[in-house]
Amino acid sequence: MCGIVGYVGDEDSAPILLDGLRRLEYRGYDSAGLAVHHDGQIGVVRAVGKLRNLEKALSQAPLAGTVGIGHTRWATHGRPSEVNAHPHVVGPVAVVHNGIIENHLQLRKRLADQGHSFVSDTDTEIIAHLVALELENGGELESAVRRALTQVEGAYAIAVISTSEPDTVVVAKSSSPLVLGIGDGATYCGSDIPALLPYTREMIFLEDGEMAVLRREGVSITKLDGTVVEREATHIDWSPVMAEKAGFKHFMLKEIYEQQRAMEDTLRGRLDRESGDIHGHEIGLSTDDAKAIKRVYLLACGTSHHSAIAGRYYIEKLAKIPTTVELASEFRGRDPIVGEGDLVIAVSQSGETLDTLEAAKLAKAKGAKVLAIANVIGSAIPRMSDATFYTHAGPEIGVASTKCFTTQLANLLMLSIFLGARRGVLGDEERAALVEGMARVPHLMNDVLVGTKQLVANLARRYNHARDVLFLGRGLSFPIALEGALKLKEISYVHAEGYAAGEMKHGPIALIDENVPVLVLVPKDSTYDKSIGNLQEAKARDAQVIAIATEGDDEVAAICNDVVTIPAVDEVFTPFLTVVPLQLYAYFVADMKGTDVDQPRNLAKTVTVE
Ligand code: M6R
Repeated sequence: MCGIVGYVGDEDSAPILLDGLRRLEYRGYDSAGLAVHHDGQIGVVRAVGKLRNLEKALSQAPLAGTVGIGHTRWATHGRPSEVNAHPHVVGPVAVVHNGIIENHLQLRKRLADQGHSFVSDTDTEIIAHLVALELENGGELESAVRRALTQVEGAYAIAVISTSEPDTVVVAKSSSPLVLGIGDGATYCGSDIPALLPYTREMIFLEDGEMAVLRREGVSITKLDGTVVEREATHIDWSPVMAEKAGFKHFMLKEIYEQQRAMEDTLRGRLDRESGDIHGHEIGLSTDDAKAIKRVYLLACGTSHHSAIAGRYYIEKLAKIPTTVELASEFRGRDPIVGEGDLVIAVSQSGETLDTLEAAKLAKAKGAKVLAIANVIGSAIPRMSDATFYTHAGPEIGVASTKCFTTQLANLLMLSIFLGARRGVLGDEERAALVEGMARVPHLMNDVLVGTKQLVANLARRYNHARDVLFLGRGLSFPIALEGALKLKEISYVHAEGYAAGEMKHGPIALIDENVPVLVLVPKDSTYDKSIGNLQEAKARDAQVIAIATEGDDEVAAICNDVVTIPAVDEVFTPFLTVVPLQLYAYFVADMKGTDVDQPRNLAKTVTVE
């Protein structure tokens, strides 16, 4: 997830572009840059790190000109560095891009075979090469961009300028967001409304498969096939604070809503529905490597530890490898038996958590291979790992992890399918069915979100005074019970515990009375019958039982006080769906209590202390 901006007008463009980027910095902040037309040339300034570094660079090398584009980066291909920062310039063309080009490796090879050389590791540079090449074939910038984009697969919002047309910015969109702003004698583009809000409230939302040419006098929109699109501007009356969070009250809620997009970005280029397989080059394991793995260790903390527990289920079930999950802080405190032949998977949203980093270093020193699953490109854990399978959730601002948790689950499931297939223990048919099912998950998550939101808000209102709340689940629902409890504790400060449902009778059941809401995860899966038994045990002790169950499950509905339903899916996909109402429940309870949802007391987003 990155932020892009563009401006065509009569004002000095650099301050306008910088201001727009400042409002988009929540979308990424590992590097930034501007490209501005000046005297028949394109001036470019880029800097690594937060926007203030770009401001400093601009104060030393100012860019004058009234037409330009800008970018704030959240690295997806190529670590944060000046050379990987946008805009990317090839010949007369400069490009900024938000998204992921799926076929960039094939395109890079083709262009290299034709004699092109590359300066960055990014997928974006490919677009700049393609547009420059098409411009050489003649015609306007608009048609060159159109022809270039027919060769590109994946997600993009791009803004392009060329010395051949100093008064235009050409933009295009597929999957990634792009908004156009219509001002008085000026036009704008940006990844999101906030970037443009101080300059105009008249905005046009570009749709997938559309492009536009921005000129001072207005914008002209076409589809990629050239069909003209007529679209009126919409008047936006958001306040600046609402705009920063895209209209959501808190980043956490926004991030819960972003999960469909985050999942799609994470699956993009990895799930291949045509071949029914996983593209696993980032995993860094050949078929022989996969076959040689004797044991897997999953190391993580907090929410990432919960996704790791689900990961153990996936790896054992689909890849048939003995797997151990460890709290990183405990693992590194022992003298663990780990070494050659072991695959250690370090799971960390930030990639900087000290305990996970040190535990992974310890395992590596003992001879294990380390694979990171992280969201922040170029962070410490990926840097020390043998390979990294990144989640593409985009920056997560809320301290309570939501979209990073579900994208970690996605990577762990894809990794398990990959390992199972390469080890020859997962048949082609089962593998293809899993890939197909996985592709549908992001959409189903959004259905669950939209379909359960009101009911969950009502439940939160009814139970938000409870002092203690229990979350129960078996099998793949156990880590989700842990995650539901952690979410509630960390943002609402309510005492909550997650238990393996089968453990209740060994002690925790003593906690239950009529004042304790018990959230039981009971989707129709292989643990269903046993979970129903546990649910009844709680009900028999007068608990207020709220079930997260499969649509149409009348048996559960008859026993429980309340039921929140998810669609029927294969067992391996249930965690993606059951966690959504639990995230919402924690959010609503915290909001009703008036806590600081995005920055709860005593917590930090990245824990770099022991
Ligand atoms: O960045 P990491 O995934 O390594 O962070 C691990 C935990 O600190 C983190 O998941 C924490 O538990 C979150 N606040 C949970 O919402």
